[in-house]
Amino acid sequence: MLARPVRVVVLLSGRGSNFRAIAEAGLPIEVVAVVSNRPDAGGLDYARSRGIPAIALDHKAHPDREAYDVLLADEIERHRPDLVVLAGYMRILSTAFIARFEDRLLNIHPSLLPSFPGLRTHERALDEGVKVHGCTVHFVTPQLDHGPIVVQAAVPVRADDTPQTLAARVLEQEHRIYPLAVRWFAEGRLVKNHGRVNLKDDPASQSVLSTGA
Ligand code: GRF
Repeated sequence: MLARPVRVVVLLSGRGSNFRAIAEAGLPIEVVAVVSNRPDAGGLDYARSRGIPAIALDHKAHPDREAYDVLLADEIERHRPDLVVLAGYMRILSTAFIARFEDRLLNIHPSLLPSFPGLRTHERALDEGVKVHGCTVHFVTPQLDHGPIVVQAAVPVRADDTPQTLAARVLEQEHRIYPLAVRWFAEGRLVKNHGRVNLKDDPASQSVLSTGA
């Protein structure tokens, strides 16, 4: 564990409820900047309301994805992050970007990976008739939605669920597990071992959380 708060940069594209959950969880971190590819992202307003530097880097002004990602990575580096948190960042990142932040880049995905990588996860879960759904925090690797898993939470799928009701149940769990994963990272407790992440000093492994709800 570092003697100072862990410096975190958050990337987001939308309302930023996961960012908010992290910012309000009393973690041993300092969110040193929030960056969005969408200037109108609600998460930027929330950052400003807390006095956190909020930076919009509009991807539409930079049609070349690789070039945009270099700008984005340079902006992030300026804030000297120990950790970069993707919190609803809705763009695929280039391999070069991911390499630059290897081992300090976390993402949250609204499914129990490796099931349902990509978009429309709740709708697809309902189409497949799964009985259990959930969310995953993982380290980011070049393969989309497929890095070493830090923590997952499961929720039941109910007979009358719609994509919206299921999304709301999963989001509640996202707000629980993302702060937890960031805390573990900040405390230096995440140990990677052959594609798996183990939690230091936790023989019983708490990194699967079930709501039972
Ligand atoms: C969350 O469901 C997250 O899992 C997904 O995008 C959504 C972002 O929500 N990647 P918010 O902006 O954090 O409210």
